[in-house]
Amino acid sequence: MIDLRGITQTYRGPQGPVEALKGIDLHITPGEVFGIIGKSGAGKSSLVRVINLLNRPTTGQVIVDGRDLTQLGDAQLREARRDIGMVFQHFNLLSSRTVFDNAALPLELAGMNKAAIRERVNPLLELVGLAHLADRYPAQISGGQKQRVGIARALASRPKVLLSDEATSALDPETTRSILDLLRQVNRELGLTVVLITHQMQVIKQVADRVAVIEAGRIVEQGRVLEVFTRPQQAITKSLIDEILPQELPVSVLDHVRKLTRQLATTAPGHAGRLLRLSYSGDSAYQPILSQLIREFGVDMSILHGQVDEIQDETFGSLAVYASGEPMHLRGAVEHLRAGGVAVEEVTIEI
Ligand SMILES: Nc1ncnc2c1ncn2[C@@H]1O[C@H](COP(=O)(O)OP(=O)(O)OP(=O)(O)O)[C@@H](O)[C@H]1O
Ligand SMILES: [Mg+2]
Repeated sequence: MIDLRGITQTYRGPQGPVEALKGIDLHITPGEVFGIIGKSGAGKSSLVRVINLLNRPTTGQVIVDGRDLTQLGDAQLREARRDIGMVFQHFNLLSSRTVFDNAALPLELAGMNKAAIRERVNPLLELVGLAHLADRYPAQISGGQKQRVGIARALASRPKVLLSDEATSALDPETTRSILDLLRQVNRELGLTVVLITHQMQVIKQVADRVAVIEAGRIVEQGRVLEVFTRPQQAITKSLIDEILPQELPVSVLDHVRKLTRQLATTAPGHAGRLLRLSYSGDSAYQPILSQLIREFGVDMSILHGQVDEIQDETFGSLAVYASGEPMHLRGAVEHLRAGGVAVEEVTIEI
């Protein structure tokens, strides 16, 4: 649906050129919710604005629905943009127009007649849950409701793609959830491809199918959300996930590991002890892998810390365990875990 090829974006800043995008290649498939996450200044807004050519990239191609937008003339580009709706962090509503008239704006600009506009906009206000507020002005509705108007307006020209730049950043957590649910709903019901920019992993976790992590103008990691959550590769990704699922083990757990290690040295001198972090998802979450290990490999396993969560109906979890036994058996146990789809990371701590 969207193909970005070799995109660079260099701004002329007061202190010289700023390279905001340094060679981005991305492929977004029809009907998916694709999340792009990164910290402030990473280049998220620059990237999303390239997709509808609000920013013309310095180099590279922007292919949307088979057409290279960078090759189009003004009139063709205007027409192509009707296929790409956009919602903004600060809603960008016109304060002198009612909810209905804000949602209708793109259609008025396109020269549609009043009856046809009513026919198009009324069901949209219904869809976003604002039919009863059609005659209010932006100052008379809440932030979440304003964003619903923004979404109705973005959908008015029946786009194939919806771009969202931090659409929920100005909203409280509960309103954020309801707006993300609405985006998910329009994605499913209208078959819309959604590109969602955010700095919050919570947003990615709730609605995205796939995610790309952007850092200093480059995509440093991408994949299915569940995959990225359970096997993050880059430090930046780990730190973003850490905000919602802390990976750091509590001090009390580390103290306990030290105690177990000392005990092991006196009770079973030939045995080795390892602090392991196990991450698992989907099917492997349901298999009795740990009890198998204890039985088949004769290793002891203390569960120290853990959390289980869900991403779009798939379970994933992270467990910290202390495993001890014959070194050879321990190696076998770790291999068995990995073969069963569990990611195993050995954590070293100072004893
Ligand atoms: N018009 C501009 N002129 C010069 N530099 C710019 C311009 N717009 C953005 N930049 C710079 O480009 C880089 C990327 O900015 P961008 O707005 O894309 O980041 P972002 O990831 O959206 O950040 P935030 O989360 O704060 O919105 C930053 O260093 C920014 O200062
Ligand atoms: Mg931004």
